[in-house]
Amino acid sequence: GTSGVVNVMGKDYTRDHLTNITPTIISKLSRKLYNQPGHPLSTLRALIESHFADYAHLSSVSPIVSPAQNFDGLSFPADHPGRSPTDSYYINKHTMLRTHTSAHEVEVFARGTARYLLTADVYRRDEIDASHYPVFHQMEGARVVSADSTGMAELTADNARLRAELARSPIVIDDIPHFDARTNPHQPEHDPAHAVALAENLKLSLNGLLLKLFGGRANLGGDAEGGEPLRVRWVETTFPWTAPSFEAEVLFRGEWLEILGCGVVRQKTLENANVPDKLAWAFGLGLERIAMILYSIPDIRLFWSDDPRFAAQFAQGEISAFRPYSRYPACYKDVSFWRPDVAGGTRAMHENDFCDLVRDVAGDLVEDVTLTDEFEHPTTKRQSVCYRINYRSMDRSLSNDETNALHAKVVSELKNQFGAEIR
Ligand code: PHE
Repeated sequence: GTSGVVNVMGKDYTRDHLTNITPTIISKLSRKLYNQPGHPLSTLRALIESHFADYAHLSSVSPIVSPAQNFDGLSFPADHPGRSPTDSYYINKHTMLRTHTSAHEVEVFARGTARYLLTADVYRRDEIDASHYPVFHQMEGARVVSADSTGMAELTADNARLRAELARSPIVIDDIPHFDARTNPHQPEHDPAHAVALAENLKLSLNGLLLKLFGGRANLGGDAEGGEPLRVRWVETTFPWTAPSFEAEVLFRGEWLEILGCGVVRQKTLENANVPDKLAWAFGLGLERIAMILYSIPDIRLFWSDDPRFAAQFAQGEISAFRPYSRYPACYKDVSFWRPDVAGGTRAMHENDFCDLVRDVAGDLVEDVTLTDEFEHPTTKRQSVCYRINYRSMDRSLSNDETNALHAKVVSELKNQFGAEIR
C-alpha cells in the first residue's frame, strides 16, 4: 500500500506514491558479494584494484541515496527515463537505491580524493532472464588533476609512459579521435590540449586494464587465445555528466562486447563538488557482465547461489572456467490478464512491476519471464497481456506441486496487489 512505513537497513521510511522497493530487494542490501573470499566478483574486483594500485579503494558505501546524488548532481535531465519508478527502486520520493556507482562521484570529488575506485551493489528494475538481475555490481574509477600546468605535466608524463608500455603489449586498439566537434565535443570550458590529455589518459589507463582482464587468457577461446593480440575498439557515446564520452569494446569469440562506459567529467559536476579548479575523468563497469565472460558463467543467478558446488570451484585470485554441474528441467507456466493500473492509478502496470512480483513469490526459482501475447480490446481499449514464466532451480529438480503452488501464488498476488483481472 501507499501508507505507513517501510523499514530498510534498520531505518523506517515513510511510504509515498513512488515507493516500489520490494522485500526481495531489501533482503539483498547487505550481502556484499564483492567481499566474499573466492567469489568471482571478489577476485575480479581485486584484479581491477591491482591495476589501479595507487588509487584509493573504496567500498561499503550505503546503497541508499537521494535522487540528487543519483541524478541531479550528474546533470540528468528532468525527463530522463532512468528517473522513472518503472526503472529505479524508490524508498520514497526523497530516497532511492543507487542505479550506478556514479551516484557517489560528487561526494568523493568533494572530499578531495584525487584517484579512487569505488565498488558497490547497484539496483535497477528490469526484465528477468539469464543476464538480468535487479541487483548487480559496478566499479567506478576516477582521476582528478588540477586545471593548470601542474595537472597537465602530470598527465603528459603519464601518457608517455602508458603509451610506451602499450606499444610493447599484445593489443590492437581501434581508436577514435579524442573528440569530434559535431558528435562528441569537448567541453567549451576546456582548452583543447587539456581535453586531449585527459581523454588520452583515460583511454590509455583503460586499454591497460582491458589487457590485464582479457589479454592472453587461454580459457577465453577465440581471438584472445593462442598468441593473438587482444582487440579493443573505442566508440562514441553520451552520458549526462561527461564530455567527450566513450565506450570500450573487446572482441571475444568473434563478437564485439561492450565492457565499460567513461568520459571526461563535466566541469558542472566538479562545480557541484566545490572543486571547479580541477579536471577529471571517470569510468564505470559492470562486474557480473565481465565475470560471466571470463568465467563462462551462464546464468547471473549463480553469483547469488549458496550451492557449495558453485563456491567450491573458485579460489581467490584465480580465474577459471565454470564447470556446470547439471541443468534441471524447466517448467513453463502462462498467465493472461487485463493490464491493471498501479501506483494509485497513476500509470499502467509495467513489465518490471510484474517481474518484481514474480521475484517476490519465486525468488531465484524463476529463470525467465517473457511477454508472449499482447492486444488491445477494440472497443473497451483495455489491454490484455500474457506472460510465460520459466520456473527452474539451478540446484535441484522442482516438483510439479511446488511449481504449481508458486504459480498459483503469482496469480493470487496479481489479484491482491494490483487488482488484476485474470483471463
Ligand atoms: N555510470 C555509468 C553506467 O552505469 C558508467 C559511467 C561511469 C560513465 C563514469 C561515465 C563515467 O553506465
